[in-house]
Amino acid sequence: MKLTKKEIMELVHLDGLCFEPPICYTYRDMTNYIRRKGATLLRKRKGGKLIAFCLGDSSDGNIITVDVHPDYRRQGLGRQLLSKMLENFRALGVSKAVSQIALDNIPSLRLHKSLGFEIRHILYGYYPDGSDAFELVLPLTPEGKS
Ligand SMILES: CC(C)(COP(=O)(O)OP(=O)(O)OC[C@H]1O[C@@H](n2cnc3c(N)ncnc32)[C@H](O)[C@@H]1OP(=O)(O)O)[C@@H](O)C(=O)NCCC(=O)NCCS
Repeated sequence: MKLTKKEIMELVHLDGLCFEPPICYTYRDMTNYIRRKGATLLRKRKGGKLIAFCLGDSSDGNIITVDVHPDYRRQGLGRQLLSKMLENFRALGVSKAVSQIALDNIPSLRLHKSLGFEIRHILYGYYPDGSDAFELVLPLTPEGKS
C-alpha cells in the first residue's frame, strides 16, 4: 500500500496518543507495516482530522492495531472498524484473524471478545518493554478452526 509521509505521520501521531513508548509504533515501524503485501488500512476522519484507524494484514490475518482517538472512544468506532476489517478478511478468504493484546487492556479485550475472538495463548515478553500479551484468534473459515 502507498501512503504519503504525511499520512504515515498521522497514523504514528494517533498511535502515540493510544500507546506509551516503547509500545507505540515509530515512523519506521508504521512504514514497514504499511508496506506489507497484505496491508489493509481503514480510517475514520472528522473535519479532515484522523480520529480512528484499523490496520491489518490480510496475508496472515493479523490485526496490527485498532486506534481510536481518546476524545472519540465509546462511540462504536473501534467496533465498526474492526468489524469492517473482518469483513474484508472474509471476502479475501483469510482463514483466521489474530490479535495480540496486553493482558491489562480491558477495552480491547472486551471489544475483540464481543466480535467472537477467543484467547489462545499468552505470548511472554511480547512487547518491547518485556510485558506479556494474550493472543486472540477468530476463525473465519472452517480451516481456521484447527
Ligand atoms: C480499544 C479501543 C480501540 C476501543 O475503541 P472504541 O471506539 O472506544 O470502542 P467501541 O465504542 O467500539 O466499543 C466496543 C466495545 O468494546 C468494549 N469497550 C470499549 N471501551 C471500553 C472500556 N473503556 N471499558 C470496557 N470495555 C470497553 C465494550 O465491550 C464496547 O461495547 P459496548 O460499548 O457495547 O459496551 C480504544 O479504547 C483504543 O483506541 N484504545 C487504545 C488503543 C488500543 O488499545 N487498541 C487495541 C490494540 S489491540
